Amino acid sequence: MTARRYAVAVQKGGAGKTTTATQLAWGLAARGKRTLVVDLDAQANATVTLLGAKSDFPYTANDLLFAPGKAAVLQRAGENLFVVPATLRFSMAERQIASLPPYESPFLLANALERIDGEFDFVLCDLSPAHGGVFVDAVIACPTIIAPAEANHLAIQGVPDLQDEIARISASGVAGASRTLRFLATKCCDHQTAPREALKTIEELCGERLLRTRIPRSAAVEQAMGKGIPIFDRRFRDSPAQGAFTSLLDEFLELAEATRG
Ligand SMILES: Nc1ncnc2c1ncn2[C@@H]1O[C@H](COP(=O)(O)OP(=O)(O)OP(=O)(O)O)[C@@H](O)[C@H]1O
Ligand SMILES: [Mg+2]
Repeated sequence: MTARRYAVAVQKGGAGKTTTATQLAWGLAARGKRTLVVDLDAQANATVTLLGAKSDFPYTANDLLFAPGKAAVLQRAGENLFVVPATLRFSMAERQIASLPPYESPFLLANALERIDGEFDFVLCDLSPAHGGVFVDAVIACPTIIAPAEANHLAIQGVPDLQDEIARISASGVAGASRTLRFLATKCCDHQTAPREALKTIEELCGERLLRTRIPRSAAVEQAMGKGIPIFDRRFRDSPAQGAFTSLLDEFLELAEATRG
């Protein structure tokens, strides 16, 4: 395996998984890293963000998991950046995985990536908030899980669950080796009491598993995601969010270096 694989996952909807996966992917590609985004969410938000209104894909996440004999056709989203898109049909994936025998179902993604990720430096898998078979497959395929934690008191309740769940999958031996879990505080808002307190709770719950970068709640991020453009674009140069994502990219590359091997 040459590519570093990451799953961006957390049960909380809207925490910033797709934002993190796509913006990191753009940043990595711009730094010359060959990057593959695998959209494992039937909402297809990463697909739309990176590929715009394109559709009728000859090869999708369904083929990646369930048609191992089919030649992969990766969608190019820019220099150094490729995508395995998802479509609404991926909503059947959980049921399809559940119908397979337990010696097969957890390894679909790991086996699939083995076939296609040889030419990449990084693979980022964007997950849905559901934690079923696709999530288990992603944890088994990806040594590191990045979990965006939204600085909001309702959003942080899932944090201990995720730690336990990943620890259980790690300890089961099915994953082959232990997993690294890193939380990322998103939608931080210093000047409001509730998000500030929520961030404090996240810091206490996650300890050293929390990445040091704080992603601010920012209109620029919303705008970038709405338009499907990188936050690194010149038009956002005055936004603190651009600086935050640049720091995240630096930290991510440091982490990748530290967990090498
Ligand atoms: N730092 C931020 N500041 C402001 N808005 C943000 C920020 N991060 C994400 N958003 C917005 O929040 C919404 C949810 O973000 P995103 O789609 O990344 O979450 P998600 O975890 O992938 O959601 P889902 O669970 O539905 O897949 C989007 O509209 C996005 O533009
Ligand atoms: Mg998403």
